[in-house]
Amino acid sequence: MTSTTASDRVNGVAADADRDRAAYRPAIHYTAERNWLNDPNGLVHYKGLYHLFYQYNPDGNVWGNMSWGHASSPDLATWTEHPLAIAGDVYEDIFSGSIVADLENTSGFGSTLTPPLVAIYTSAFTELSAFAGLQAQSLAYSLDDGFTWTKHEGNPVLNRESAEFRDPKVFRFNGPSEAYWVMVAVEAQDHLVVLYKSANLKDWTYLSSFGPANANDGEWECPDLFPLPLDGRTDQLKWVLIVSVNPGGVAGGSGGQYFVGTFDGTTFTSENTISEDGQALSLREYSWLDWGRDYYAAVSFSDVPGAKRIMIAWMNNWDYANDIPTSPWKSAMSLPRHVTLATIEGEPRLVQEAVEPTDRLVSASYAIGRKTIDRGTELLPDEAWGQVLKIDAELRPGTADEIGLVVRGGQDEGTFIGYNSFSRCLVVNRVKSGYVDFHHSFASVETAPVELIDGALRLRIYVDRSSVEVFAQGGIITITDQIFPKPSSCEVALYAHNGTGSVESLVIHNLESADPNAI
Ligand code: FRU
Repeated sequence: MTSTTASDRVNGVAADADRDRAAYRPAIHYTAERNWLNDPNGLVHYKGLYHLFYQYNPDGNVWGNMSWGHASSPDLATWTEHPLAIAGDVYEDIFSGSIVADLENTSGFGSTLTPPLVAIYTSAFTELSAFAGLQAQSLAYSLDDGFTWTKHEGNPVLNRESAEFRDPKVFRFNGPSEAYWVMVAVEAQDHLVVLYKSANLKDWTYLSSFGPANANDGEWECPDLFPLPLDGRTDQLKWVLIVSVNPGGVAGGSGGQYFVGTFDGTTFTSENTISEDGQALSLREYSWLDWGRDYYAAVSFSDVPGAKRIMIAWMNNWDYANDIPTSPWKSAMSLPRHVTLATIEGEPRLVQEAVEPTDRLVSASYAIGRKTIDRGTELLPDEAWGQVLKIDAELRPGTADEIGLVVRGGQDEGTFIGYNSFSRCLVVNRVKSGYVDFHHSFASVETAPVELIDGALRLRIYVDRSSVEVFAQGGIITITDQIFPKPSSCEVALYAHNGTGSVESLVIHNLESADPNAI
């Protein structure tokens, strides 16, 4: 990897800026064709399609004019973008929320023959509205399976006279004696998740609240609450509460924490809260969905066949989201992740596996067995290189302080993904990952505690044109980071610092050789 000075790099990037901005468009992650997006909203599987709605600016490439964009997919891999679903107007911005399939027409918006999809979203009211300055929950419905939407005339349906009450996630709760809708939403600045119930999605009754707990430095946003069998046992059902926090995430800025416990139809009780005042402990003690900088506002799909729980996050961070060097689009979604709950070191923990980009599956371009990694950096042959890769590696640190892989390597740049024996951490180092100077806080090193299993670390890494998503030890720990390398930086190398280690096996799939227009 040849050497250039920092100013060469900046100038080089400036000269190549337009080409690079377009070249950063991911191959295996969803982006809107044009313009800004943030949180995934209204994730629902309905009549064979996965619907992905999202916070969207129809008029620009920075945050603003919040409305719901829309895409759908038959397989979570190939997405089709649709016209704007729910538009903001002079009275309200359409903030985050969820969608339910109201199959029994409890809302009365449709009929049992034509059940409505109902969106429950936050109206962020403007100065021109009678509710100026408030955030309250509103409804819109669709009678054509999610493609066109009508706002409910009686909006808002739930108003706490609060300026920070938002991000409703609604699900059907089947209790022993009755079934009803449950909403989880946040009072963002109070670090509270508030729960309500309803028979018809229009009239809501307060149930309980949860919080503050664990990470409380920033605002609480985008909650989600769902059941998962522990260790695959349906007689051992636990409830998982997701709470995004911004700033104050474990890697800095935006992050997502989770709680595991019980939900009795009224109250969520956490079994893994460590701190109720947020003061006592390091952020690293808490349970995080992802230890990277770019995995925020994660929420799950409703009604996935087989009761699977699949989550998608916004692959960005409010610290620098508006400044990332992409155009004419800004921000991608994470890969969809299948999440399960397993007992690990005595604790129930989320285990995450990316849903394979099935449209891209190709035979391995490079595969090796056991190989020593000598001190230094060893470039792999060019069959291993690429902009869009799926990498499976098993590493043994041996005597090295740190060993791992370099991806998207090129002229004095590369993203280092490895294991540090001193800190016993998975490491993603994007300090020299390419264009990092667009924001002072972008260059960073992420670390996440992970135990070796039989002396080895198993990694699955998805490399894309502007991101890496790393799943360690079968998805017990993940790190998701954006990167902005030169398009020509495609090298893959092995590295070992201060000693030697080994790679037990390494298999690389180049996902770019499939149809580049598929996503
Ligand atoms: C989270 C968030 C939500 C809000 C939306 C506005 O990223 O701040 O709390 O509803 O974005 O776009």
